[in-house]
Amino acid sequence: MAYENLLFEEKNKIAYITINRPNVLNALNWQTMQEIQDVFLKILESTEVGGVIVTGSGEKSFVAGADIKEIAERDPVEAKDFSLASQKVLHLIEYFPKPVIAAVNGYCLGGGCELAMACHIRFASGNAKFGQPEVNLGIIPGNGGTQRLPRLVGKGRALELILTGNIIDAQEAYRIGLVNHLSDSGQLIADAENLLKSIITKGPVAVKFALEAVNHGMELAVDEGIQLEANLFGLCCSTEDMKEGTQAFIEKRKAEFHGK
Ligand code: COA
Repeated sequence: MAYENLLFEEKNKIAYITINRPNVLNALNWQTMQEIQDVFLKILESTEVGGVIVTGSGEKSFVAGADIKEIAERDPVEAKDFSLASQKVLHLIEYFPKPVIAAVNGYCLGGGCELAMACHIRFASGNAKFGQPEVNLGIIPGNGGTQRLPRLVGKGRALELILTGNIIDAQEAYRIGLVNHLSDSGQLIADAENLLKSIITKGPVAVKFALEAVNHGMELAVDEGIQLEANLFGLCCSTEDMKEGTQAFIEKRKAEFHGK
């Protein structure tokens, strides 16, 4: 698939996905959602890529939301189908077996905030702005925002953001736990890369199972989540990576993992 609305690059085990519709502040139309799905499925098959960085083109915007012009034309049945299909794309990202980092540069609104929240870790530049302003349009978040935001920042803060449509700056997003890190101007991608590189040096099977334990575990009752953790912990102990990691510690050397 040739991408109309994404830039894609693979370098040093990192896949870079840049949402690229600068004329509309990188708003997500349906075509873009399909392209995001396609590129993640490709990365899933790659044995080279160890992690993903998602960002927006230009300095002004990560993603300024779903494409409002498309939304305006949908009937209720289409709108529901679009919501379900978009949720599936974000589910693919959240449950991705390799770490996915959002590097948020500028506006991160509506569907953009929902995209960033589906990523595993978020970095924000100083000019980033976050919000779920859908109520201003007479709609509610439809790409998982009503579910992921309360899980990230707590129900009270999530409700305030969703009910008011208020936009918050990067500092406030950091304060409430919506973003993990703030980056100085010009350092955003480098900061995201540094963290990702450090994760990529760990045992890939352990990284994958850790993602699975947290993501699936959060959907379960605690007892079941604990059981899932024990099962995956046991599975880790059957891997060459586990043998290498523990042996390297004992021999006081750096482990060399092969993801097996
Ligand atoms: N969908 C479609 N087009 C969008 C868009 C969106 N979510 N966000 C911005 N655009 C378009 C604008 O229509 C404008 O297009 P035009 O030049 O053809 O008029 C262009 O992007 C630039 O946006 P503009 O509003 O002129 O920039 P600004 O700096 O004055 O304001 C925002 C920036 C983000 C505050 C403003 O664009 C905005 O409120 N966008 C909508 C945010 C939103 O409600 N998102 C949730 C959608 S569900």
